[in-house]
Amino acid sequence: MKLFITGGAGFIGSNHIKLLLATDPDVSIVNFDALTYAGNLENLTDVATDPRYRFVRGDVSTVADVMDALDEGIDAIVHFAAESHVDRSIESAADFVRTNVVGTQVLLDAARARKVPRFVHVSTDEVMGSLDDGGFFTEDSVLAPNSPYAASKAAAEHFVRAAMQTHGLDAVITRCSNNYGPYQFPEKLIPLVIANAIDGKPIPVYGNGQQVRDWIYVDDHCRAVDAVMRKAATGSVYCVGARSERANLEVIRTILDAVGAPHSLITYVSDRPGHDRRYAIDPVRVESEIGWTPRVTFEEGIAKTVGWYRDNAEWMAHARSGAYRDFYEKNLAWRETSSADAHS
Ligand code: NAD
Ligand code: TYD
Repeated sequence: MKLFITGGAGFIGSNHIKLLLATDPDVSIVNFDALTYAGNLENLTDVATDPRYRFVRGDVSTVADVMDALDEGIDAIVHFAAESHVDRSIESAADFVRTNVVGTQVLLDAARARKVPRFVHVSTDEVMGSLDDGGFFTEDSVLAPNSPYAASKAAAEHFVRAAMQTHGLDAVITRCSNNYGPYQFPEKLIPLVIANAIDGKPIPVYGNGQQVRDWIYVDDHCRAVDAVMRKAATGSVYCVGARSERANLEVIRTILDAVGAPHSLITYVSDRPGHDRRYAIDPVRVESEIGWTPRVTFEEGIAKTVGWYRDNAEWMAHARSGAYRDFYEKNLAWRETSSADAHS
């Protein structure tokens, strides 16, 4: 199985690549990633020299980058690349439209041109908007995005659907809930809380902290994406979640207790504009049709995750200082230079 994985230097993409290389001896992977602030090749140092793995730096919204990197003979594109942080999309939505919308359309066109037999589009539950206290998101929920991030991901889904309907492209879509685990950039809630708790710094809580998210350990999401890629009927959409709803304050208190830090670090700050109240997934369709179930409970996952960040203080220090951004220049830029020399 030859896979073209976009966004593989990010949080979920890098976990996905490592899971596949560890569990499928027959897989080979091209990791296509622009290395934005969210792309961190230090996530992949332990697989960097695996002969089944190759990194290509490129931008999904640039046709030439994608067409140069995407060879014929690829079995599936697994599309993780995105601008992914809601707060940044509130500051400016331009990069979200360029990467998430234009980038997805560029990849869909390239998939057709290169006759790629399957396109796996990694979407998010946030395209379905916000829930009140009752009810769940299902595959039949209406798309009703509230943040510019969610709007760009919903737009991308529409382009995936249009490519299927208009051009007969084989595509499948997953909509997962909030992920957490190793290698998550510390702008997102859980790694931010762990890092600040370890350092004894204030924990910013938006608004009253009663917003609910449905948390899933990253490996469980990756196993779902892989199972959907291998088993789902063309055109299908699956909602993925682990039935682990928690209010933000509850998550924060659980982490503070796991780290052994005082609850007095909790600091209430202004609420996020348009802050979605609640996300919650009913995963019954992916469980019954694909046979996927989550393996890691929230309590186990938080303990593993806190342990990982404690054991990987250097990764966190580099993520926070920006030092991880030197990795490409120090370790890989020579490859592009030498390949350009070889062509001249
Ligand atoms: P991330 O921000 O950690 O990583 C994104 C990756 O995409 C980075 O490596 C970045 O360099 C790359 N990238 C960004 N713009 C690019 C471009 N123009 N061209 C090529 N590469 C580019 O994101 P993540 O949390 O790993 O999320 C991955 C995917 O999963 C996204 O599509 C996101 O919408 C989706 N998702 C995330 C969550 C979550 O909780 N994090 C939940 C459900 C779905
Ligand atoms: P986040 O990790 O940004 O994910 P998303 O917005 O995609 O759900 O935020 C998770 C929740 O935590 C969300 O309700 C916003 C809240 N939050 C805080 O209260 N403080 C913070 O510093 C951050 C980053 C998030």
